[in-house]
Amino acid sequence: MQRLAITWLGHSTFLLRTPGGKRLLFDPWLRENPSCPEALKKPPRADVILVSHGHGDHMDDLVLCARESGATVVAMYELCDWLGRKGLQNVEPMNKGGSQQVAGITITMTDARHSSGFIDGGQMIYMGEPAGFVIRLEDQRTIYFAGDTALFGDMQLIGEIYTPEIAFLPIGDRYTMGPADAARACQMLGVRQVVPMHWGTFPVLTGTPDELKRLVEPKGIQVLELKPGQTAE
Ligand code: NI
Ligand code: MN
Repeated sequence: MQRLAITWLGHSTFLLRTPGGKRLLFDPWLRENPSCPEALKKPPRADVILVSHGHGDHMDDLVLCARESGATVVAMYELCDWLGRKGLQNVEPMNKGGSQQVAGITITMTDARHSSGFIDGGQMIYMGEPAGFVIRLEDQRTIYFAGDTALFGDMQLIGEIYTPEIAFLPIGDRYTMGPADAARACQMLGVRQVVPMHWGTFPVLTGTPDELKRLVEPKGIQVLELKPGQTAE
């Protein structure tokens, strides 16, 4: 087994290499993503693409990435239905509370408090509810990718049931929770490490990893702050 490798492509787009060598792409937004390094704007090789919700900053490059990579797309039922109508066959729809095995990884869909619509042909298309994911890796460790969300009390339950070690949490504020609520989320989830996301992309996303660090480091929680394009193992 290899070490888990986490590459941040900016905003909420991540590429993970699992201990079993599978490549998981989260919330693909590359070409128009101001934080994504120029050299990484091409669709990456991927086995599975996970999409948290239908906003453009999480799936503008989904169809392109899915077509180029041939990866299996895992997302909410309605979002997968839309993908099907775009001609994508390799989709594994699901809904909250359910789990499925894809490429040797167990994926559970969780709640998220947000909205989910995609503008297609000048119309706002309903993409089902927004979601998060708990991923059980080949070494049985679990991680939690929150997607875009407010803080919600059931993060405590996610912590109790799935005992994630690492949480990917939005901290930018305005459209999601900010650093103070993300710090509270870390405690409810019981994680040892947190990867901040959805910050720094635009001026209105004001939350910073420094604010999160100030709140969680005294509690022994490590903030994995990446630069866009950087990989942590
Ligand atoms: Ni969103
Ligand atoms: Mn977003």
